[in-house]
Amino acid sequence: MNQPSPTAPRYARITGTGSYLPPRRLSNADMTALLAERGVETSDEWIVERTGIRARHFAAAGVCSSDLAVHACRHALEAAGRSADDVDLIIVATSTPDMVFPSTACFLQHKLGISGCPAFDLQAVCAGFVYALTVADAMVRAGSARCALVVGAEVFSRILDFNDRGTCVLFGDGAGAVVLEASDEPGIVATDLHADGRHSGILCVPGTVSGGQVLGDPLLKMDGQAVFKLAVGVLESAARAVLEKSGRSEADIDWLIPHQANIRIMQGTARKLKLPLERVVVTVHEHGNTSAASVPLALDAAVRAGRVKKGETLLLEGVGGGFTWGAVLVDF
Ligand code: UT7
Repeated sequence: MNQPSPTAPRYARITGTGSYLPPRRLSNADMTALLAERGVETSDEWIVERTGIRARHFAAAGVCSSDLAVHACRHALEAAGRSADDVDLIIVATSTPDMVFPSTACFLQHKLGISGCPAFDLQAVCAGFVYALTVADAMVRAGSARCALVVGAEVFSRILDFNDRGTCVLFGDGAGAVVLEASDEPGIVATDLHADGRHSGILCVPGTVSGGQVLGDPLLKMDGQAVFKLAVGVLESAARAVLEKSGRSEADIDWLIPHQANIRIMQGTARKLKLPLERVVVTVHEHGNTSAASVPLALDAAVRAGRVKKGETLLLEGVGGGFTWGAVLVDF
């Protein structure tokens, strides 16, 4: 990365948000019917009680992560008052790329009708957006970019095992994006990222491409209880870390926007941070778990609903396979 130039901005600021959900919405009743055809039993009651999820969206056959991302980016650029030609960096967080390579970010760049700027994918599963925002923040503050698109885009429906009721009812497809610009005003105020590869086996897609075929199982595997326990602990520690780095306290947080995996994890995190539930942005009921897309989807939904407003302080948090986790504190 470049050395900070004397003219490098002090901050990177989110100037626009956007998101996109594919039109096909499946309620829990739809999922129950779909699984019944395979002899797999589930129910709206179980899914709502254990997760808070009521519906998710699935992309149509042939629709890729970059197709969802391009809609989210156009909405974010419009909200920022920018055009694609202003963009000088694209980072896409995804675990469901269009291809092994080129990167989904390169496809997205082309679909936006631009060329030349750096574009790359970042793989940190459900913590991907928080990772991507942290990297983009560092690049903007270093003077390497002035107007970045930071995106989370996923088609998790492609990697679900519809014979495993413990996972296939949880996930959905979608994309969210922010425009991150150089600014002398905050801005992203603190970031905190972590990984612990010892836990790689509790949430993974263990397949790989080799010798012209897929080796191993290319479908999602999860030890839900192990992930649940780790998630609650690390979301609290990452939140405390960004507060300490920025010299702020829980009372300064206007909105907690956590990864949308399970309402019970979000409630647990809010309790530990002594935040009332009304201050937590929740979209898991309508989106399911969209992995790297979940935080920017939730952020955009809250902005467009007029809940999250300019000048408020947001705590964004991600946690996922790897094991990976992190937090970003933002003055919006
Ligand atoms: O995005 C990355 C982060 N991911 C997460 O944060 C996920 C974290 N984990 C979770 O959210 C929860 O662990 C789950 C929602 C995945 C599971 O909830 P749980 O309360 O831990 O349930 P469980 O896995 O202990 O299963 C309890 C019972 C089992 O039946 P028995 O063995 O008690 O008879 C399961 O077979 O629920 C059964 N079950 C289901 N029943 C109906 C599991 N899935 C289903 C289902 N419908 N879809």
